[in-house]
Amino acid sequence: MLLERIEALKAQIAELQANNEEALEALRIKYLSKKGEVTALFNEFRNVPAEQKREFGQRLNELKTLATEKINALRDSCKAGESKAAKIDITRPAAAEEIGTRHPLTLVRKEIIRIFERLGFTLADGPEVEDDLHVFTSLNFAADHPARDMQDTFFIASDENDVTRNIVLRSHTSSVQSRVMLSSQPPIRIICPGRVYRNEAITARAHCFFHQIEGLYIDKNVSFADLKQVLLYFAKELFGPETKIRLRPSYFPFTEPSAEMDVSCMLCSGKGCSFCKNTGWVEILGCGMVDPNVLDACGIDNKEYTGYAFGVGVERITNLKYMVKDLRMFSENDVRFLREFETAH
Ligand code: DAH
Repeated sequence: MLLERIEALKAQIAELQANNEEALEALRIKYLSKKGEVTALFNEFRNVPAEQKREFGQRLNELKTLATEKINALRDSCKAGESKAAKIDITRPAAAEEIGTRHPLTLVRKEIIRIFERLGFTLADGPEVEDDLHVFTSLNFAADHPARDMQDTFFIASDENDVTRNIVLRSHTSSVQSRVMLSSQPPIRIICPGRVYRNEAITARAHCFFHQIEGLYIDKNVSFADLKQVLLYFAKELFGPETKIRLRPSYFPFTEPSAEMDVSCMLCSGKGCSFCKNTGWVEILGCGMVDPNVLDACGIDNKEYTGYAFGVGVERITNLKYMVKDLRMFSENDVRFLREFETAH
């Protein structure tokens, strides 16, 4: 009899459920309090014949342990449930989703592209892993030009006898010029934004990769005056209508004549300050008339066509617009830096 009652109680207890403290306390009282069902069986234990005491004692203890453990387990899950419930406040407004910011280089690249698109330039693209033909040879670089030197260019594969098997990371976006010229005929009016690589030690002022936007215009009767006019428009759009430009003679293998362009210092409006080293001018790009040798090397008739080209450094312009002093900031992805551009479009 007693054995059966123990087994029945065990089965009952194993099935117990309680989802709050009150229900749990009721169960504890029902089974384990002084007047509880388990306790009642213990009280009957004294009537068990001596030879059976050992077995009954064991069974009763098992029952008590089962009941205690079950109630403790229910208490734990009750507590977990309650604290979860307490944490959910369904009246609270939803947390705002954090939205990332545009990278400053992206902002400036887009701004530059938009300016030239308004002038009728279209986008062109080329690979970052390039061959010597497109990066150097077709652009009139002499075989011993220092830019080919290991100091500047990352070489991937070399073959002295075949420039198309001499593979490099492009060191300028001018390589896209030759790609476009080799595959199409004038009129050509393109800009090519992209990343370029140079074997430089990484410092605040130099990096082993950076970004450029190349421009190229080839048609009949394109003159240096056209170049100057387009660049003046570009400078005014980018830095404001008061901006002045200045062209200084320079040298690039792929342009003749070549020039570097300065804009009037945007900090002191050309009066001279520490930023422009008291000159009133800051350099922003290289440009020139496409060398007839380049047109020839790229399959364009240099008697019929002329053209101009320019190359803008995106980091350079971004530094000028936003006064970023250290180039490394652009690639470290420190969100405190990136967040500063939250409101810039
Ligand atoms: N490729 C030159 C550089 O990386 C920049 C440049 C200068 C591009 C003059 C041009 C140009 O198209 O005409 O320094």
